[in-house]
Amino acid sequence: MIIINNEIERLDFSREPRGLYEPIGYTLSGGGKRVRPTLALTACRLFGGQEESVLPVALALEVFHNFTLLHDDLMDKADTRRGRQTVWKKWDANTAVLSGDQMLIEAYKLLAQLPAEQLANVLPIFNRMATEICEGQQLDMDFEGMKLTEVSIADYMEMIRLKTSVLLASALQMGALIAGADEAAQEALYNFGIKVGLAFQIQDDLLDCFGDAATFGKPIGGDILEGKKTYMLLTAYQQGGEAFRTQLEALRTAMPANKIHNVCELYNRLGVRQRAEEAIETLTREALAFLNGIPQNEDTAALRSLAEKLASRNK
Ligand code: IPE
Ligand code: IPE
Ligand code: MG
Ligand code: MG
Ligand code: MG
Repeated sequence: MIIINNEIERLDFSREPRGLYEPIGYTLSGGGKRVRPTLALTACRLFGGQEESVLPVALALEVFHNFTLLHDDLMDKADTRRGRQTVWKKWDANTAVLSGDQMLIEAYKLLAQLPAEQLANVLPIFNRMATEICEGQQLDMDFEGMKLTEVSIADYMEMIRLKTSVLLASALQMGALIAGADEAAQEALYNFGIKVGLAFQIQDDLLDCFGDAATFGKPIGGDILEGKKTYMLLTAYQQGGEAFRTQLEALRTAMPANKIHNVCELYNRLGVRQRAEEAIETLTREALAFLNGIPQNEDTAALRSLAEKLASRNK
């Protein structure tokens, strides 16, 4: 984590034109949990690799992740992230698009610092991951426009596998690959990452309703106002059926703050929070099982404790 933050600080975005680069510096210096580079670094160490050898991948992953956030906040009309104004809000939509595009390019430039032989192995994994995230983000938007009856929890799980899990999974796989781990071990870590990512996104959905805005750093209720098909909403429908749908419909024209309050209240009454917490626990348990078949050392233990920490995070 310290090494990642140090390396990110060393990236220089003091170039001209300021309108393009300043938002990039602003975003990358704004904190964040640095989960994806931490996963890549830990996976590399686990299989005996040197930290320096995986740094291009770790940095590329974090810059890529932050690129997705610039576009995501515009798509989701989110005003705050990490307790600060989002780029489209602080500057404008065009800035979020173009600085985001440049961050995607910067991510690939970082990746290209790998020795040619490593790059040839890593690039297809990175590319597939990047495409799958776009596919997941498209499904997320498609679902917004669909009725509750048209989106199943299985559809939701596939959408979050794409928009969130594959990034964590690929970070782990690439870290292991750089260290020379065999394919079975890479796959075990990838599968671990997929499950951790599913739990991670359900927790993110949960915090949209039950989080504390100051700690979470993002607006509470944004998913509710945007009509996102979150785990919370789909589970409420599963639990409450048509009666829930009628109550939700009645809130359609309510003032935003009232709508958020009342929808969360409905979730409470239907026991949705507990359902979500159970799902997170189950997925985390399933994730941890994938670690049994790989070497056991302090880095395997670090992955275990990270998975558990993320499952009960509040930011
Ligand atoms: C936010 O990711 C996007 C999701 C997949 C929910 P993080 O929660 O990892 O965001 P930062 O980087 O720590 O701010
Ligand atoms: C995150 O989904 C997925 C990506 C950014 C690719 P969300 O839209 O739920 O993430 P937050 O809540 O804005 O961080
Ligand atoms: Mg969002
Ligand atoms: Mg989104
Ligand atoms: Mg969210």
